[in-house]
Amino acid sequence: MNEKPNNISEMAKVYEKNTRISIPSYDTLFSMVQSYFRMKLKEKEARILVVGAGGGNEISAWGPSNPQWTFTGVDPSEEMIRIAKNKTIQLGVESRVQLIQGTIDDLPTPNYTFDAASCILVLHFIDGIQEKLKLLTSIKENLTSGAPFVLVSAYGDPESTELQDRLQIWKSFWLVGGAESSKVEELVTKGIMKISFIPENQIQWLLAEAGFTNITRFYSTGLFGGWMCHA
Ligand SMILES: C[S@@+](CC[C@H](N)C(=O)[O-])C[C@H]1O[C@@H](n2cnc3c(N)ncnc32)[C@H](O)[C@@H]1O
Repeated sequence: MNEKPNNISEMAKVYEKNTRISIPSYDTLFSMVQSYFRMKLKEKEARILVVGAGGGNEISAWGPSNPQWTFTGVDPSEEMIRIAKNKTIQLGVESRVQLIQGTIDDLPTPNYTFDAASCILVLHFIDGIQEKLKLLTSIKENLTSGAPFVLVSAYGDPESTELQDRLQIWKSFWLVGGAESSKVEELVTKGIMKISFIPENQIQWLLAEAGFTNITRFYSTGLFGGWMCHA
């Protein structure tokens, strides 16, 4: 389990594998979001904003089967954007995808309005409540009224036994996935415990403060939760 990627495609493979160990229902999450977006967007043409597009998993999951959707993905990581670009070409969806290396502040046009948005596995990398709120507020401002928005993030009170118990369950995914227990402890101390956990009620408060309504948790797995809401 000591995988040290030495090139971009190797890095992408490790990311794909490790994400599915860390979040065993990762692929199902994308199907669930797609179902809801389809129901809300109907058959209309729609513009989807993907915040933290990473290696292109949202676009791969939703692009080919929804030809009426176009995507704008933002991500500050040059490597991840390169991986995402390659994926869009492999899938033949590149004409419907715009990828921007940067954050939501780097969207080309101010007041650009999208019909739906996602922010999957990003918020826990943003330190500080005000910075998290700034991101969610910017997403809200870039959406049409009523547009669906999905947020997926690690959550929990870092001081609580509830989070410690979930951490034990999360560790078991890695052990069964073949990781040595010393490696799993390292993942906890150098990785997981360094991310910015906040309790669920604070996540819901942030979404409401940013202006979202109908905030509903529809997904929970190990350390991560998913909330659907509307602009
Ligand atoms: C764990 S990956 C998730 C990527 C993708 N959403 C997925 O599920 O595969 C987290 C991504 O968030 C990106 N990221 C970090 N800070 C960000 C920010 N302020 N705005 C947008 N993306 C950010 C990272 O570069 C990274 O690609």
